[in-house]
Amino acid sequence: MSHAELDNQARAILTGNDQGGYTIPTKGLYPYQWNWDSVFVALGFATFDQDRAWREIEMLFEGQWRDGMVPHILFRKDDPSYFPGPSVWGTDGGPIPSSGHSQPPVAASVVHDLLAGDTTGRGEERAERLLPKLMNWHRWYLSYRDPDGLGVIAVIHPWESGRDNLPDWDEALRAVEVRDIGPYERKDTSHVDPAMRPHKEDYDRYLSIVAACRNVGWDPAKVAATCPFFVADPGVTFIFLRANRDLLALAERLGRNEEADEIRGWIAKMEEGAARLWNEDLMAHVAVNERTCKQTDGISSASFLALYAGLTDTRTLSALQGHFDRIAAKVRYLMPSYDPGHPSYEPLRYWRGPVWAMINYMIAKGFAEAGDKARAERLRADTAKLIETGGFAEYFSPESGAGAGGGAFSWTSAIWLTWASSTRAEQAA
Ligand code: DGY
Repeated sequence: MSHAELDNQARAILTGNDQGGYTIPTKGLYPYQWNWDSVFVALGFATFDQDRAWREIEMLFEGQWRDGMVPHILFRKDDPSYFPGPSVWGTDGGPIPSSGHSQPPVAASVVHDLLAGDTTGRGEERAERLLPKLMNWHRWYLSYRDPDGLGVIAVIHPWESGRDNLPDWDEALRAVEVRDIGPYERKDTSHVDPAMRPHKEDYDRYLSIVAACRNVGWDPAKVAATCPFFVADPGVTFIFLRANRDLLALAERLGRNEEADEIRGWIAKMEEGAARLWNEDLMAHVAVNERTCKQTDGISSASFLALYAGLTDTRTLSALQGHFDRIAAKVRYLMPSYDPGHPSYEPLRYWRGPVWAMINYMIAKGFAEAGDKARAERLRADTAKLIETGGFAEYFSPESGAGAGGGAFSWTSAIWLTWASSTRAEQAA
């Protein structure tokens, strides 16, 4: 199929998953508005309907909690095909029923990019309205996911990282006591092959963490102090650092000097804090269990996001180029979500190995900005090949290229339209 035909398919997937201003990730498996899915989706809409792209983000922020948090799922209507739904979460923090924690904060970066490409004439006005909301969300992150001011962001749940069953969470998750969950029925494995999804023992603990936070009323300070899972995540940390740089550019463009000063302070603190995640043996940034101060022992695709976060010093850049080439010699398609040389790597199980289009997009952006156009282009070409052969799947095997997880997936379509399609590259040229 030609790239122009795939462009049409991608647009049809986005409009087919559109629920009237917000987009679900895919029918069946994920029937609600997911936070970072929605934000990447806005980039896809922006290639053919900028007004609709802004609307996607605005509707996400309609669910912002009073304390500033933007939830990972907004349950705008009850849908029995998904578990755990609103009654399991038991939250009361915002105007729309929602889950109780957040997801990687890519929104400021995308708002920045939407404004940069805006031709609607209303972009500045819409960005003006979003800026204070973005500021509040970022302040929330600093207060409740970095309560000790370390300059790294922790997640209180594997779902908050967006990378649910990553091997980095295994040890911290095993330490979570299984309690207060009762009998429950998973729905995800009725939509998708169970071999591509997390195990039951993971789900027991995912639900036990939800129960522990529900037991403290989702009070963010109590959650930070008592949650049985609290792990500094290079993924969220680097996405947040990048988002702060983009938020700063936005504040400067809009002449918001006070906000700009505040954000400069956040960036300085995080640039320093990132060193806590550096593993000298592995020569990469990894996760750190903040309850035990222990670093994890594997390289994930998020380790490569250091460049996207602007950490482009020679040591980091050359270490990541080395890892890139080593991994490229092991698998056919880059970038596997976990190091294929690690014993926990599994090529088809969700975040334990598969390639994800939007992660490739961010990693490539980092390499390109660090001056490494060749590796950035390799990632784009691999993403295009995966979509050509595997379709608009949720994720892909780095070995066979097979599409896996859900199909007709919104963010894969969005990333195709905004970056991977060769028609996009031709337009940009
Ligand atoms: C799921 O249901 O698997 C989601 O990833 C949680 O956000």
